[in-house]
Amino acid sequence: MRAALDLATNSAEGTRAVAEAIGTLLEPGDVVSLTGDLGAGKTAFVQGAARALGVAEPVLSPTFTLVREYEGTTRVYHLDVYRLDRLQDVLDLGFDEMLDLGGIVFIEWGDAIQALLPESYLQVELTMRQDEPETVRRLVADAQGPGWALRWERLEQLVGPWRVA
Ligand SMILES: Nc1ncnc2c1ncn2[C@@H]1O[C@H](COP(=O)(O)OP(=O)(O)OP(=O)(O)O)[C@@H](O)[C@H]1O
Ligand SMILES: [Mg+2]
Repeated sequence: MRAALDLATNSAEGTRAVAEAIGTLLEPGDVVSLTGDLGAGKTAFVQGAARALGVAEPVLSPTFTLVREYEGTTRVYHLDVYRLDRLQDVLDLGFDEMLDLGGIVFIEWGDAIQALLPESYLQVELTMRQDEPETVRRLVADAQGPGWALRWERLEQLVGPWRVA
C-alpha cells in the first residue's frame, strides 16, 4: 500500500540531495507542489531536482519573478505563487502551456492554487520544528492522484537514506 514518505535532512545540501534522487523519476508533464514553512527549503529542493534534470544554470528563487524557466533534458519551470492573488494570475503566466508542452513544473506554495493542479502530482511539504536544530528539515512526500502509482516503489527505494520513522 502507498503511504506518504516521511523524510528528514540536516542541511540545505541534504535537501538538494533527496530532491535530486526524486528528480530522477520525474517525467515531462509532471507537477511537484512544494508546501510548508516559509524558508524551509522549497527553492533548495528545486535546485536539487534540477540537477537530476540536467539543468546546468544556477536555479534561483522565483519569489520576485514568479516564474523561471530552465532548459534541462526537458524544460523545467519553477513557479512561486506566494504573491499571486488570483488563479487567473497563474494562468496568465502560461501555466497550462507549461504542462501541455511537456515541461516539468515545480510550484512553491502550490497548495494556494490547488484548483489549477492536474489530477496527479507529487506534493512535498517542508517544515521545521522548534525542538530540532535549525538546519533540520522534515519533508513529507505524497502523491495525489493515480499518476505516481507505478513509480512509488522506486521512489521509496530512492529516498530510503532520508526516511524517518
Ligand atoms: N536542511 C535544510 N534544507 C534546506 N534548507 C536549509 C536546510 N538547513 C538550512 N537551510 C537553509 O534554509 C534556507 C532555505 O531557503 P529556501 O529559499 O530554499 O527556502 P524556501 O522554502 O524556498 O523559502 P521561501 O518560503 O522564502 O520561498 C537556505 O538559507 C538554506 O541554506
Ligand atoms: Mg523559495
